[in-house]
Amino acid sequence: MRTSRRLFLQSAAAFAASAGSPSLDPNSLPRFVDPLPRLPVAKPNAGKYRLVMREAELRLHRDLPPTRLWTFDGCFPGPTLEVRSGQAALVEWVNQLPERHFLPIDRTLHGAEADKPEVRTVVHVHGAKTPPESDGYPEDWYTRGKSATYRYPNRQEPAMLWYHDHAMGINRLNIYAGLLGLYLVRDGVEDGLGLLRGRYEVPLVICDRLLRKDGSLEYPVSGRPDAPWVPEVFGNALLVNGKLFPYLEVEPRPYRLRLLNASNGRFYHLSLSNGREFHLIGTDQGLLPAPLRIPSFVLAPGERADVIVDFQGRSGERVELRSDAFELMQFRVGRATGGRVPPVPTVLRPVPRIPEAAAVRTRVLTLNEDMNGAGESMRMLLNGAHWDMPVTEKPLLDTVEIWSIANLTEDSHPIHLHLVRFQVLDRRPLLYRGPPQPPEPTESGWKDTVRAHAGMVTRIIARFEGYPGRYVWHCHVLEHEDNEMMRPYEVVAV
Ligand code: C2O
Ligand code: CU
Ligand code: CU
Repeated sequence: MRTSRRLFLQSAAAFAASAGSPSLDPNSLPRFVDPLPRLPVAKPNAGKYRLVMREAELRLHRDLPPTRLWTFDGCFPGPTLEVRSGQAALVEWVNQLPERHFLPIDRTLHGAEADKPEVRTVVHVHGAKTPPESDGYPEDWYTRGKSATYRYPNRQEPAMLWYHDHAMGINRLNIYAGLLGLYLVRDGVEDGLGLLRGRYEVPLVICDRLLRKDGSLEYPVSGRPDAPWVPEVFGNALLVNGKLFPYLEVEPRPYRLRLLNASNGRFYHLSLSNGREFHLIGTDQGLLPAPLRIPSFVLAPGERADVIVDFQGRSGERVELRSDAFELMQFRVGRATGGRVPPVPTVLRPVPRIPEAAAVRTRVLTLNEDMNGAGESMRMLLNGAHWDMPVTEKPLLDTVEIWSIANLTEDSHPIHLHLVRFQVLDRRPLLYRGPPQPPEPTESGWKDTVRAHAGMVTRIIARFEGYPGRYVWHCHVLEHEDNEMMRPYEVVAV
């Protein structure tokens, strides 16, 4: 991530110093002293969920003072919403946050100008097929004391989705502060597969933060007080379910791990310290046709992976989940406890390929860097356009389109479309003719977020079904999204 390193490292250090407490080196803390938190499951009341966004102080590690966070119902990550496919859910998202933000707002960003309230929120369920009025449009934000009741029809296949703030121009700060949680869709077909459940199914929400020694969150700034935005944030404190270096005691049997990368900008390259393979059973939008064995995989911001890890025959071992040089968490394999160990099913769920010939239109969309006069990067754009320019992507309802995403920048960008699920067709180098590269194993199922690699054309195919109306597509590096790397698009009923 060239641009950020060039410009911003020194100012991040300056900000930390100015904030009073020095930056924390997470390696100074003992590892694996906190049990992995099991995320609470939200309970509906008279058929409706109510989740309250409020400030809370939570301990991210045994030896750290509590950290000020913005949470749903006092939890970070927020309580998991568990729904059944085809059964609608009503959720009231309530804003009871303080009046002032505790992270550095940039008033020069579109949507965060001086006339806008500091604290604004609007919640989006990432990956949900939701009517536009309940999708959490970035400009539909509201302030303290207000709420929005959204209706989720849940007419979609089981998958691990997630909810998070989407307020225009401050989304990166609100999510960094903690406004995120999981949204699990289940159905009878998945139930029938006999996949691991209960304590053998473990959702893992991964996100990185920078911390100070007093436990507080550090969000780097540019060094320009009037324009503190930075193009990327990489924390060295890697949290799993809101804890730094947690451990989980497991039985010597298979576990289903459901991973989400909820980081602002960090990509993970995940593997196990004992070199064992993962059985990949699902991606962003649900199950694969059959499990795939993979030694490691990449998870970009917004992406999910559903894997089975087998601890059979490993009694007494300690196994770490790693991302390159980082250790995220430890599994401690205990003694056998008996009980039947279900085999990994060999057939999961069909993923019918959308034929390219079904596409009524191919759009070539560029990812570009916007330079200032000095040749410095100011922001990234989608197709050279800003947020408030006229809508140019208007697929017709129920038609198939191919989006060819040509990345002219030097960074990889995880591109996410609201409303639809898609399939990754292939990638081709931009500058020379080479054979197209097939999607990676973790891209062989239904997706809603795709890594558009630098200097490549990444092709996806989607049917724009569900609901007509105004949605968005954007880069899921939140610093990019907040600074114009997001565009409206409109599904048009015919
Ligand atoms: Cu994860 Cu526009 O969302
Ligand atoms: Cu989304
Ligand atoms: Cu980006």
